[in-house]
Amino acid sequence: MADKKRIGIIGARGFVGGELLKLIAVHPDLELAYASSRQQAGAKIDGFDGAVFESLSPEEAAARAADLVFLALPNGVAAPWVEVITKAAPQTRFIDMSADYRFDDDWAYGLPELNREAVCGATRIANPGCYATAAQIAIAPMVSRLSAPPAVFGVSGYSGAGTTPSPKNDPKLLENNLMPYGLSGHMHEREIGYQLGTPVHFMPHVAAFFRGLSVTVNLCFDTPVTADELRALYAQAYAGEAFVTVSDEAPQVRDIANTFGAQVGGFALGEGGRRAVIVCVLDNLLKGAASQAIQNLNLSFGFAENEGLKG
Ligand SMILES: NC(=O)c1ccc[n+]([C@@H]2O[C@H](COP(=O)([O-])OP(=O)(O)OC[C@H]3O[C@@H](n4cnc5c(N)ncnc54)[C@H](OP(=O)(O)O)[C@@H]3O)[C@@H](O)[C@H]2O)c1
Repeated sequence: MADKKRIGIIGARGFVGGELLKLIAVHPDLELAYASSRQQAGAKIDGFDGAVFESLSPEEAAARAADLVFLALPNGVAAPWVEVITKAAPQTRFIDMSADYRFDDDWAYGLPELNREAVCGATRIANPGCYATAAQIAIAPMVSRLSAPPAVFGVSGYSGAGTTPSPKNDPKLLENNLMPYGLSGHMHEREIGYQLGTPVHFMPHVAAFFRGLSVTVNLCFDTPVTADELRALYAQAYAGEAFVTVSDEAPQVRDIANTFGAQVGGFALGEGGRRAVIVCVLDNLLKGAASQAIQNLNLSFGFAENEGLKG
């Protein structure tokens, strides 16, 4: 057995950092090099005997020689970490969980089911947004047949808003409520459009449940499609994929919370087959973030894509 890969996490206190820690703890080829958090410095890390969170500067992290660093930070703060660590330890690989490199063609965009070749062996990977993952899975098989921008209605659990207190993760404000936000120009709208090469209209909402999200996607075509054709196209597009399931029924958030996979289905037709409505659900913290990042890590190092994700 080759040496285990040493993994660093910057932003390890957050929701995504926490999920990454749990996945690293059970991955047979990984060991934790460090987990950085300013607020949690000195606190024990569950699942890692004797290990504690540390508040590291980029220079201190660079000196700790990780094979791969997960950046699980808010948008806009990754660059100094990448620059300083790369300068001191150029062989270090990165997976960035934020949006900072999703529009940078020097970084592989890590949605393996749509972009696997680019991710295999990549040393800098931009992990996709949670909604953006679900929307692309729902739209991609029909993208060449669209006659208008798809409309994407999204609802996420409030863990999607991270740990920094805001109205979007305030249980009191969310009680018996559905909160619209970012109704045009949301960053994921740009991301989906950029990756699929077609404009989309994305309307996100946040609800009172903690984890999981659902996108309901309205697609219009010039040439009509039948229900059988549509189902067959999606079944074919995701045949052999361990982490995407195609179902006839519209899937529901509770089917996928705490799982590593996305489910796509529904396939309702209208206007004589010129309109289809498709639903995709996934766990925003797993297939929408941490478990997709482990798929990407596995492809980067040449491990089996589902290594550490079999539970
Ligand atoms: N939540 C989701 O569903 C989801 C899904 C996909 C992608 N993402 C993306 O993943 C990233 C992390 O999301 P999250 O939900 O885990 O956020 P979060 O819960 O708010 O955690 C943010 C982490 O970053 C650290 N941090 C904040 N500002 C920092 C700074 N200036 N320098 C260094 N560390 C800093 C925080 O720890 P300390 O303050 O203790 O240092 C904390 O560990 C974000 O870019 C988010 O957009 C999130």
